[in-house]
Amino acid sequence: MKLNLHALVAAGVGLVLTITSAQSQTASNIPHLEKQGTATQLIVDGKPFLALAAELHNSSASSLEYMKPLWPKLVAAHLNTVLATVSWELIEPEEGKFDFRLVDGLLQEARTNDLHLVLLWFASWKNGKSSYQPLWVKTNQDRFPLACSSDGKSMPIMTTFSDANRDADAHAFAALMRHLREVDGEKHTVLMIQVENEVGTLGDSRDRNPAANEAFAKPVPKDLMDYLVQHKDTLAPELLKGWAAHGSKTSGTWEEVFGPGKPASVQLYGPDLTDKKKDIYWRQLNWASDEFFMAWRYSMYVNQVAAAGKAEYDIPMYVNSWLQQQGCPRPGEYPSGGPVPQVHDLWRFGAPAIDILSPDLYIDQFAETCARYTRNGNPLFIPESQAGVRGAANAIYAFGACNAIGYSPFGVDRFAGSDLELARAYDLLSSVSPLILANQGKGTMTAVLLDATNATQTFRLGNYKIEAKFWVPPSWTHATNTMPGPIAGVFISTGPDDYIVMGRNLAVNFYSTNETESVGIGTDEEGVYENGRWVPARRLNGDEVYEWRTLHLRDDKYSIQHVKLYRYR
Ligand code: DGJ
Repeated sequence: MKLNLHALVAAGVGLVLTITSAQSQTASNIPHLEKQGTATQLIVDGKPFLALAAELHNSSASSLEYMKPLWPKLVAAHLNTVLATVSWELIEPEEGKFDFRLVDGLLQEARTNDLHLVLLWFASWKNGKSSYQPLWVKTNQDRFPLACSSDGKSMPIMTTFSDANRDADAHAFAALMRHLREVDGEKHTVLMIQVENEVGTLGDSRDRNPAANEAFAKPVPKDLMDYLVQHKDTLAPELLKGWAAHGSKTSGTWEEVFGPGKPASVQLYGPDLTDKKKDIYWRQLNWASDEFFMAWRYSMYVNQVAAAGKAEYDIPMYVNSWLQQQGCPRPGEYPSGGPVPQVHDLWRFGAPAIDILSPDLYIDQFAETCARYTRNGNPLFIPESQAGVRGAANAIYAFGACNAIGYSPFGVDRFAGSDLELARAYDLLSSVSPLILANQGKGTMTAVLLDATNATQTFRLGNYKIEAKFWVPPSWTHATNTMPGPIAGVFISTGPDDYIVMGRNLAVNFYSTNETESVGIGTDEEGVYENGRWVPARRLNGDEVYEWRTLHLRDDKYSIQHVKLYRYR
């Protein structure tokens, strides 16, 4: 999404002067997004880039000394990108006085170690709450007001209903982006920016300070209603259902259009929230008017912060979400108004300066969540997730099946050096990334994510039907009586009868679309990619391609095979 007029106007005075410089930066090849078929790719120094990333713990990047021993471990973990926090309190400790020494130190260390950075702007909100704003903001509640809960008490959350809050944040963010343009506009160490962290109101389903209550009692703004009407055909099905449930009205107050908000009598996380109810609530809209109202407010606030930054230095920007899930199924139990799938359309309306809506994806429903985050062309960037066996499988699946731009487990300080599963997977992905990038968005590549409960998947790719099975060596089940996993497999159609398959613990059968024909494995090579070229190793035959029909990636380490098929009657 390019910086558009809506975003610029929203960011207010002073932007017009900087538009020209932001535009000329795009032309001069700063990191940006580009379409390839159905995919959107991150372009770095003129080439598409897969971010094999990981995120530091929240406080790590606040000390260059603390970071010192970590850099070599990040390199050894085969990362090419590190997600690191830049906090408002540290860059603007006194109002209007900026200190970028920490940012410069991070850039320098990243460059020395041949790593890229994605910087996380921790400012007005972090996990719904406000704790990264400078002390001069925290201690001046009259000037920088807080959100209120239904008992009338302030919550430690900067309210979205304050221009002063938004403008102070946007001012600091613009200063950061200006500085980045000056020190990194040519070098491109910083690839993208996360604006805020897991925004939304936590502790109540909506803000109830007087300004918020007043806005909530008013009609849904006409420009928002018009947007929903115009985009009816592509709206998220959850939003459409929530709207239809109350008569698909095109005007009215929030509660008239989207149904009742949370009754005062309901206590969040209260005793009524049984496991059975959690299970039901987390797959449905709850108090949609409250959640939609907050999504409208947060998206517009974040948009103005992002647009002020983009006017200085126009690199891709995303927001991340704390997901609705069984443990916290209702808005307020997870941050209400954050970019969860059911409110993506409201975010698209409110925040055109934001390029990507991202999931912090720790829940088990990985593939399902990726599917919900790639609707309507939203590019997939996963800033927080798991590491280990699960992380390796998630990353491979996301790049192969969902055209992901990047994958990033959280808390790399903890696992760098000890997580060999992820390091090995990133090493292999880095060798094969030119092929993956060349095939994203073209319909020539897909991937599977398999585990004990979802052990077989069948799909069509190129000229063949393919059946991929999770293959478990008998020794595993005997030893542990469990089926470890999950595992992933990537399939790339490289010619009419040719496939590259990357995976582990996989058995793969190919079938002709013409039932009178059988399919044989003509040749099967294992090998590696070196500098983008296929370098074959063993020629596999006999027991390794059982009955000339089944491709086996038997090892419990990811590897690559190149297979040529033939048909016979
Ligand atoms: C999600 C947050 O976005 C991160 O900053 C961090 O607090 C993790 N949760 C911790 O698991």
